[in-house]
Amino acid sequence: MPEGTVALVSPRVDLVSEALAGLSAARKTLPPKFFYDEAGCALFGAITRLAEYYPTRTELAILRDCAPDIAAHVAPGAAMVEYGASDEGKAAILFGVLDVDAYVPIDIAHGALTALANRMRWSHRAITVYPIAADFLAPVRLPAAIRAMPKLGFFPGSTIGNFDHEAAIGFLAMARVTLGQGASLLIGVDLEKSPDILIPAYDDAKGITAAFNLNILTRLNREADADFDLASFKHRADWNDDRKRIEMHLESRIAQTVHVAGRRIRFNAGETIHTENSHKFSVPHFASLARRAGWTIETTWTDAEQLFSVHLLR
Ligand code: AVJ
Repeated sequence: MPEGTVALVSPRVDLVSEALAGLSAARKTLPPKFFYDEAGCALFGAITRLAEYYPTRTELAILRDCAPDIAAHVAPGAAMVEYGASDEGKAAILFGVLDVDAYVPIDIAHGALTALANRMRWSHRAITVYPIAADFLAPVRLPAAIRAMPKLGFFPGSTIGNFDHEAAIGFLAMARVTLGQGASLLIGVDLEKSPDILIPAYDDAKGITAAFNLNILTRLNREADADFDLASFKHRADWNDDRKRIEMHLESRIAQTVHVAGRRIRFNAGETIHTENSHKFSVPHFASLARRAGWTIETTWTDAEQLFSVHLLR
């Protein structure tokens, strides 16, 4: 396959059947990957620039500070494999410092990958880009051209926090197999902290996170022949202290029936659709998760306020 061509590994997410399965369950759910249509990606971009949303800017600052340290751990001529790479912004911080020959961004957003590959042809001429359009939870076959290169997996953004612990271990174990013997994995993980900081980060004053959450219903109206009335649902962000996670829900303000792809979905007043978990970790807790997937932490970097962590696993 010529470089820069997007390999479509898995078929498009079956939005309708996954939505119906989630909305027919006793506790209604929708998968967070549904957030990221074009409008959702733009809203997430706006979230990352909010004063209340500390993770993105904190992780970027850690990556800038620790890039030289990371470079000391990664062999030259490496191939970087990024999971959930809708843009190359975070990876580019490392490209400036590490000796990287190849970049394999994996993401379900086909359009975003094409744009990324086109930009990098100009901005990083020395790095060969092999985009793969796939759900990054599915095991992918790495391009043959990078097989002999040292591998660095990259999974920033604390996206690992979206999974429950079994799925997180499953992902980490799958990445270990995909990347192969001797590989490293650089991963961003949000740290446990006071709900006084967490709640506003997921329920901001401008209502951007609320719009991001509600956009999933707009998407179902358009793509799953649904008739959700957005005004009768409200955004909720709760801290679950037992499970150390932020839970996002869409709460029905009234008893109502909604149609989705020809099926009736009934809501009681106050009933919710659980749309996202965002788990938070202590360093020892994350270390034990990584260990159960066969990785050990080589180095952990955090910011001065201990808001966010970046780990190099081996
Ligand atoms: C991209 C999954 C890391 O959990 O913080 C932001 C998504 N949801 N605000 C997160 C998100 C609401 C974000 N992740």
